[in-house]
Amino acid sequence: MRRAHKILAPKEEAPPKPTVSKVGLLLVNASEIATLAGRSEPRRGEHMKEIGLVADGAIFSRDGKIVEIGDSEALRKKHSTAAKVIDAENKLVVPSFVDPHTHLVFAGSREKELEMKLGGATYQEIAASGGGILSTIAKTRSASLEELVRESSSRLRGMLSEGTTTAEAKSGYGLDVETELKTLKAIETLGERQPVSLIPTFLGAHAIPPEYEGAGDAYVDMLVSDLIPQVTKRTATRFCDAWVEQGYFTVDQARRLFTQARLFGLTPKVHADELSSCGGAELAGEVGAISADHLIHASDGGLEALAKAGCVAVLLPAASMSSRLPYADARRIIGAGIPVALGTDLNPGCWVESMQFVISLAVHQLRMHPKEALTAATINAAHAIGAARDVGSIERGKSADFLILDVQSHDRIGYRFGRNLVEVVVKSGNVVVDRRPR
Ligand code: NIG
Ligand code: FE
Repeated sequence: MRRAHKILAPKEEAPPKPTVSKVGLLLVNASEIATLAGRSEPRRGEHMKEIGLVADGAIFSRDGKIVEIGDSEALRKKHSTAAKVIDAENKLVVPSFVDPHTHLVFAGSREKELEMKLGGATYQEIAASGGGILSTIAKTRSASLEELVRESSSRLRGMLSEGTTTAEAKSGYGLDVETELKTLKAIETLGERQPVSLIPTFLGAHAIPPEYEGAGDAYVDMLVSDLIPQVTKRTATRFCDAWVEQGYFTVDQARRLFTQARLFGLTPKVHADELSSCGGAELAGEVGAISADHLIHASDGGLEALAKAGCVAVLLPAASMSSRLPYADARRIIGAGIPVALGTDLNPGCWVESMQFVISLAVHQLRMHPKEALTAATINAAHAIGAARDVGSIERGKSADFLILDVQSHDRIGYRFGRNLVEVVVKSGNVVVDRRPR
């Protein structure tokens, strides 16, 4: 049998060497990385000082997620094919900030109230004279969706350039179906346009709107029967907040609201004990709120309830500064075993976008240790908005969200203030802000 000729393939070129595809982001030469890695529950007591330091650190991330943290030399060798390498130039790297309490979306401004405050007017007096929340409601109702997005967009850019890449954003300057939905839509649009993850909160119980003056119960009926169902059907809102305060919402009204919110899948958050001690912290504990915020006048019983419920205390020192209120007693709250977070409370009466500024207030006015303040502005803040599985620390599997700060060591946090120390912001593995000199 004739053997078939072997058919010779036309002369082939040497097969191309397998190309090494360049993927991932490698950060090297951090003087320190405060990873905040560690326990998965909110940090309390002495654990608030656990910031997971790695000296001469490096981070490798791929597809937006953290893959590995280690020392610079080892990771350089291991990930020599990284698509992008950032040299941290012997500076401090921290998780990007999480701001767990903002009223980001509103129209207009209220600088006139500053003069009244300087003249000694209280928050309640300003509100009674037609200022405060109700004046912002009138402006927000008449703004279009695009106008709201445009005005808020500049604030969000400010937050990002100061190192915030995840933030909670509340409604609450609409207080009617149309404007609350418009605000929540604006929050969604803003989160799509800028690299900041926005977590929406429904704050229909921010104030009693003018058309319900003297009829708080009827307004709460409307929130329960109309707004909560509509908001949960038409938006991705996760939390329901209420301002429990004299002249705003009573404990009973807020309890009724939270009962309905739970039925519709919303987790309670509470503006508690800001101007007076009125049972806000106790209620937050009772309904299992994820956070109780402000707490300037919280009672011992209220703090006990929070500690027992595992609720995060969100302290907002910039609100104390801008409304000339006392500062919350952070030492007492930490001492009571409650995990503490920090937020800006950005709103037209307290226009602050910078978590760095809030950290400096926390250190100087609340007597928080720099390590505690860093924990409060990152991992504990993430817990306060249910985001700690994805953000708040530099750990394998989490979103690659971190900052290079223009200092060498974590003990400069809060000590250096009044200047934006952020040099680079990385969000989901991409450099989204680069302020380094060229
Ligand atoms: O968190 N306390 C209630 N709400 C805001 C103030 C909002 C405003 O004054 O417009 C706060 O301080
Ligand atoms: Fe607030």
